[in-house]
Amino acid sequence: MADKVLIFDTSLRDGEQSPGVAFNIHDKLEIAHQLQKLGVDIIEAGFPATSPGDLEAVKAVAKEVRESRIAGLARAVQRDVDLAWEALQGAAAPRIHVFVSTSDIHLMHQLSKDRDTVREMARTMVARAKGYVEDVEFSPMDATRSEWEYVYRMLEDVIEAGATTVNIPDTVGYTTPEEFSAFIHGILENVKNIHRATISVHCHNDLGLAVANSLSAVRAGARQVETCINGIGERAGNAALEEVVMGIKTRADFYKLETNVKTRELYRTSRLVSDLTGMLVQPNKPVVGSNAFRHQSGIHQDGILKMRETYEIMDAREIGWPSGSEIVLGKLSGRHGFKSRLDDLGIELTTEEFERAFEGFKELADKKPEITDRDIEAIIGEERHTEEVQYKLDLLQVSSGNQLVPTATVRLETPDGSHLVHTATGTGPVDAAYQAINAMVGIENELTEFTVKSVTEGIDAQGEVVIRILCNGRTYTGRGADTDILVAAAKAMLQAINRALSVETQQQDALVRSNP
Ligand code: KIV
Ligand code: ZN
Repeated sequence: MADKVLIFDTSLRDGEQSPGVAFNIHDKLEIAHQLQKLGVDIIEAGFPATSPGDLEAVKAVAKEVRESRIAGLARAVQRDVDLAWEALQGAAAPRIHVFVSTSDIHLMHQLSKDRDTVREMARTMVARAKGYVEDVEFSPMDATRSEWEYVYRMLEDVIEAGATTVNIPDTVGYTTPEEFSAFIHGILENVKNIHRATISVHCHNDLGLAVANSLSAVRAGARQVETCINGIGERAGNAALEEVVMGIKTRADFYKLETNVKTRELYRTSRLVSDLTGMLVQPNKPVVGSNAFRHQSGIHQDGILKMRETYEIMDAREIGWPSGSEIVLGKLSGRHGFKSRLDDLGIELTTEEFERAFEGFKELADKKPEITDRDIEAIIGEERHTEEVQYKLDLLQVSSGNQLVPTATVRLETPDGSHLVHTATGTGPVDAAYQAINAMVGIENELTEFTVKSVTEGIDAQGEVVIRILCNGRTYTGRGADTDILVAAAKAMLQAINRALSVETQQQDALVRSNP
């Protein structure tokens, strides 16, 4: 049997550090359940010391997700380690992940501490974490810009203090595959107790090398890789889980290794994370982008028709891509047909969610004769954002044109079931609709991003609008799909507002619980 590479997914922690991404507790739980289904070995659920809301979210993931190991991040300070343990103690298999910077640039300009002091912080905080839990991971942050000898000595200290995994972060995406491989070999040769720990790597993508660097480290002896779904994460993101996993699987002849990931769940996981982050997957993204298995040139199409492997190194079905039965449902399809298509797509919904999705499907089928898998995914994408505190769009009426002042009338159903109506003007029809909505919901926000794209081809295609709003210093995403793009835009705004209301309420509840 091939040796295993463990997959540590940090979409819920480093992924949440993507500019513009903010998960609420429901999002984190939904993603964590899907990561578990995907077969991820370790899920980094959050950074409990950063906010009471994140502490509660890590606690909830630790309580509900029992098959994957659950990790919580902590700086090498007492409060962080203690809060990480508070969040994780209900987990079936908890891990505390302690980190501290090791590069001189961080020590001098950020921590204002000398090397000996920082080494001591690492040792004592790993020992403190070890007092709580058997499984402790340690990361020397900015390791690839640190003096290697200093990193070796620190790793020796923390392994002595009980660290069972030592993770080497390329925090600013600076290293290269050859250099990183040499660093891993250096660790294996110079850290005398390294046989007592697993070597992990955590690569950022500033130079587009995160996956290459991770695979190079695996080749050199690393046996854990830290990833994010769709390569999301701080700045240019982290190594993409789907690329690392498919790299190891597709080139098993070269790496002679395997992972526990059930690759048929990759496509579904990618869509879920895209829906909940509002970060669209670029069409040419390897493995999960919409063009990843499309062939344009005549020569390639000819080859594929004769034998798929002529121009494909992976089988789309192994990644869980929908089977390609594109046009399947229409106006006459009933609950049964809709449910069976959802099953084929691997989409599981509660009865209540199913009923709402079915309603959305019927509405769409009235306007559009052929409902494709992409249409269904767009309906479900909206469904995923249904929050507890809800304003719903009841009516939108817009007048605009080159000789008119754009005017929108919006009627909303409020959380208590009553109705509000408002008319506003704006610089354009979308602005007018947003002015009307904002006048009613009373939560101050600024629109920072607006994108619109077509879900499928054709004049009757649905338009999908993704927006971001800034509200009390946090960014919230909203998504809406409809054959009328103004309706899609209004739905997207309401979704973002509902999310903002839900997160604000959760933060307040968590604050009350932590300061009773
Ligand atoms: O990039 C980084 O260095 C990190 C650490 C906290 C592991 O995210
Ligand atoms: Zn990182």
